[in-house]
Amino acid sequence: MINIGIIGAGRIGKVHLQSITYHVKNACVKAVADPYINEETEKLIRNLGVQKVCRDYKEILGDPEIDAVLVCSSTDTHAAVSIEAIEAGKHVFCEKPVDHALERIQAVADALAAHPDCRFQVGFNRRFDHNFAAVRKAYDEGRIGEAHILKITSRDPEPPNPAYIKVSGGMFLDMTIHDFDMACFLTDSDVEEVYVQSAVLVDPAIGEQGDVDTAIITLKMTNGALAVIDNSRRAVYGYDQRAELFGSKGMAATANDTLSTVVISNGEGVTGEKPLFFFLERYMESFAEEMRQFVNACETGGEVPVGIHAGMQSVKIGLAARRSVEEHRPVKVSEMDAV
Ligand SMILES: NC(=O)c1ccc[n+]([C@@H]2O[C@H](COP(=O)([O-])OP(=O)(O)OC[C@H]3O[C@@H](n4cnc5c(N)ncnc54)[C@H](O)[C@@H]3O)[C@@H](O)[C@H]2O)c1
Repeated sequence: MINIGIIGAGRIGKVHLQSITYHVKNACVKAVADPYINEETEKLIRNLGVQKVCRDYKEILGDPEIDAVLVCSSTDTHAAVSIEAIEAGKHVFCEKPVDHALERIQAVADALAAHPDCRFQVGFNRRFDHNFAAVRKAYDEGRIGEAHILKITSRDPEPPNPAYIKVSGGMFLDMTIHDFDMACFLTDSDVEEVYVQSAVLVDPAIGEQGDVDTAIITLKMTNGALAVIDNSRRAVYGYDQRAELFGSKGMAATANDTLSTVVISNGEGVTGEKPLFFFLERYMESFAEEMRQFVNACETGGEVPVGIHAGMQSVKIGLAARRSVEEHRPVKVSEMDAV
């Protein structure tokens, strides 16, 4: 049994708390820390059987009964809290992105190198989605042959509050970062070069914050495959999350998940369900599966499925994408090493 402490009781902290409570049999959440916790959240946490609710995460790090922590606080705290947790002898699950600055991600990597027994996983939950995992499995089994072209469609149902843009690091580091990781995962490769065409077509307030809300991104993978990601902050029909991997022997493609597969045909036309609304609906099972695999790695000492390399690569690609927009040119990911 792995005892867990959760740091940050916002949207994603609560998702992981519920996943572990209901879906991970060899783990137990012992404590939750959040300096801004309110009464309602505290009640929800206690109702799920958590013994300790506190404001200072250091209480969790100092508790010898806690084996692993989940870093679910705001992004600007991830690297520092992760390093403290690693040095306190805890296993760490860190939400994405590990940080916006490469030197702070490198500091986490250095702490991990000094603590080889620490299991450290990054929260790229989409790797555990049943559809995307099946594409990767088909690729691993050789049923698609060599990867030639990957297409990822990733459109949110509604844009974030423009005030969120500044703290989130913008679309590439907050939203597309999942797609960058997915491109690496589905082709089993890193990215060599990035080129972006982008626009503000959804909400001018996002443009006023210096960000974009619509993008077509082309990637040259290090294994030679080409990838294209299309992003929008608003698809009026729901959360559009699809991928297609085309290769020398064939193709694997996914469809959106829907509440049901019912198609209604009548005098007005032929209609089906919209895609599930957003990440909390679409990816719930993937959040549970990433927790199961993290806990298993902590318990057995085995490899984590998504480590610090993926955490570093995804941010490098996101920074390269930003530079591509600023300088209107293809940018090699290796250029980011000098950032
Ligand atoms: N994997 C995913 O799909 C996914 C989805 C949502 C969010 N996230 C990531 O999770 C992180 C949190 O996002 P969210 O949507 O839950 O945000 P949120 O604002 O709902 O929650 C963040 C929480 O962290 C708390 N917090 C801030 N500083 C803290 C500290 N020092 N110690 C403990 N708690 C602290 C805040 O009070 C807040 O309750 C972000 O980095 C985000 O990128 C990942």
